[in-house]
Amino acid sequence: MAFSTQVLNCDASSITFSADEQPEVACSDTLRSLKEASHYLVDLLQPVAFPTETVYGLGALALDSAAASRIFSTKGRPPDNPLIVHVSSSLMLHSLLPPNFILPPSYELLIKHFWPGPLTLLFPSDPTLIPSIITANQPTVAIRMPSHPVARALIAISNTPLAAPSANSSGKPSPTRAEHVLRDLDGKIGIILDGGPCEVGLESTVVDGLREDGDIRILRPGGVTVEAIEQVLRDGASDGARIPKVLVHRRDFLDDTIEQAPTTPGMKYRHYSPSVPVTLLWTTSSPPSGVEPVTPAALLDSVKSLVVGRSVKVGILAPADSSLLQLLLADSTVTWHQYGLGSKSEPSITAQRLFDGLLTLEKEGVDIIMIEEVGEEREGLAIMNRVKKAAGECRWVSMA
Ligand code: TXA
Ligand code: MG
Repeated sequence: MAFSTQVLNCDASSITFSADEQPEVACSDTLRSLKEASHYLVDLLQPVAFPTETVYGLGALALDSAAASRIFSTKGRPPDNPLIVHVSSSLMLHSLLPPNFILPPSYELLIKHFWPGPLTLLFPSDPTLIPSIITANQPTVAIRMPSHPVARALIAISNTPLAAPSANSSGKPSPTRAEHVLRDLDGKIGIILDGGPCEVGLESTVVDGLREDGDIRILRPGGVTVEAIEQVLRDGASDGARIPKVLVHRRDFLDDTIEQAPTTPGMKYRHYSPSVPVTLLWTTSSPPSGVEPVTPAALLDSVKSLVVGRSVKVGILAPADSSLLQLLLADSTVTWHQYGLGSKSEPSITAQRLFDGLLTLEKEGVDIIMIEEVGEEREGLAIMNRVKKAAGECRWVSMA
């Protein structure tokens, strides 16, 4: 179906939530935008793009298979990749859970501290409630309560949970501004709610805490850091109780079933890649055996050889205080397109800017994008998870 896509402004600061988790919208234009979007979702069963605190989502009714199927066709998403269900209240969460399910103590703590917010939890899925198109026939369903007032109000006004992946064509970087969604999905959807740039910039952390051992498995690192989860579990443990371990997939554990299924963090599908090649520059770790590190000068020579007859346009994403960045920018025979990622000590700023950086440099028409590694602490773990998937090539640069 072809649409003339409308971008409707929403003033997030005009939305508040009462103690019973109901929205109050002070700005009449914002209320009108939310009601129009809800009409598309509920009456027309059409997907709508809306801001969340992580990235823009492409939402549709989670409990209606026909509505949810339009998410897959709009994005070109493989049908075996399950969707996250978004709720606006704890009442709505409980309406989705099997009647005999008791929240594990770890979930009670995580929900208390991180909801609403960028944390997705797996729950047992009741197939009589959750359509199989949402779970891709997994025994679990992923649920989160977003903290962005526009997202939460849209769900509450629609009075039903919304399934929402990131609002981009499958395989592309996730959108963090309404203009990213418009550039990608113009004509394919009816409405984009514009609530400004996303604060977190990377998707939610996906957690499985349902296993027998009670440990917390991080399937996808994201907006809530591993360190913050560990701290909450430590501080909230009752006397004498075992503190659950926090295990990061691929760093601390491997699992054949998730390896083979295209669920988080399966590598089956291409991810986060703009239409220009992306090279990841490792500067602190040594290369795998058989791979020779390059000097910055040799790296520049190989990049310059990518085009003939004109100066190569190189997009560079690196921390502001990177010594490699200073060395590279000194070569004026390259046309540099620099996009700042904040300093090394501010991974939350890097997270906020990463996807915007990739999409901005792609729009500027660069020949190649180079991204320098960041440390895998705090938000750095999620940043490097996305960067490794976006990069088609890695180079090890010797700085000595
Ligand atoms: O921040 C976010 O999570 C954003 C915003 C829009 O809320 N949404 C998002 O959705 O990132 P998506 O579809 O791009 O990523 C959802 C991830 C996928 O990797 C999917 O495989 C995984 O969650 N997932 C969904 N249901 C799952 C399940 N039952 N078991 C394991 N992984 C699941
Ligand atoms: Mg996505």
